[in-house]
Amino acid sequence: MNLKLKIWRQKNAATKGKIVNYDINEVSSDMSFLEMLDVLNADLTEKGDEPVSFDHDCREGICGSCSLQINGRPHGPDGGTTTCQLHMRKFKDGDSIVIEPFRAKAFPIVKDLIIDRSAFDRVQHAGAFVSVNTSGNTQDANATPINKGDADNAFDAASCIGCGACVAACKNASAMLFVSAKVSQYALLPQGQVEREKRVTDMISQMDEEGFGACTNTGACEVECPKGISITNIARMNREFIKSNLKS
Ligand code: SF4
Ligand code: FES
Repeated sequence: MNLKLKIWRQKNAATKGKIVNYDINEVSSDMSFLEMLDVLNADLTEKGDEPVSFDHDCREGICGSCSLQINGRPHGPDGGTTTCQLHMRKFKDGDSIVIEPFRAKAFPIVKDLIIDRSAFDRVQHAGAFVSVNTSGNTQDANATPINKGDADNAFDAASCIGCGACVAACKNASAMLFVSAKVSQYALLPQGQVEREKRVTDMISQMDEEGFGACTNTGACEVECPKGISITNIARMNREFIKSNLKS
């Protein structure tokens, strides 16, 4: 199929960006979206033009780095799918595809389609860890019985890959879905109890410091999350936050 691509090009964080049009021909419907961009970049390089910079690593839906806004939707038109798992069969001959970086104040653009998501790292550093005794007498994790419902909910929350689609989908650029997934995965398990109260207040305070917006319950984050993280995690985080404040 032949496609028209409208891609955000921006030299660096200090310069203004703009949409640039590219025609790409003979795209196979079996290609992944990133493979299609690889072909475009090979053509641009051959012509002596600057290839389009975009982020990727695992290309199998695990690392969360392939964050692109495709036709106005984070990770494109296919639900429950990261950009790297999106296939060109979702498009048809003659389509125009607008490709932009995720837009949020807390995710500044580095170059073209690459954004700086280190704000997420700093939120995680603030509390997304557990204290573990590593002195040689560490208890086997399976020795602690855990309620099946809690284990399942913790596992679901832990499947967040930190891609930032929830922030890009939210009109307030809120990071509540991401932060609540991290808070929940620890709050639900015995291993997460040591720092439970401090974790939620520290992570929320770092989230605010990074410039993410507030949650107004529109639910767009849940719709666009490629890992199906539920907004019930946000309700849990709010309860954790209130309990933590009442105790302090
Ligand atoms: S909650 Fe979903 S959309 Fe947000 S960072 Fe995690 S995986 Fe990505
Ligand atoms: S490249 Fe790792 S999730 Fe897409």
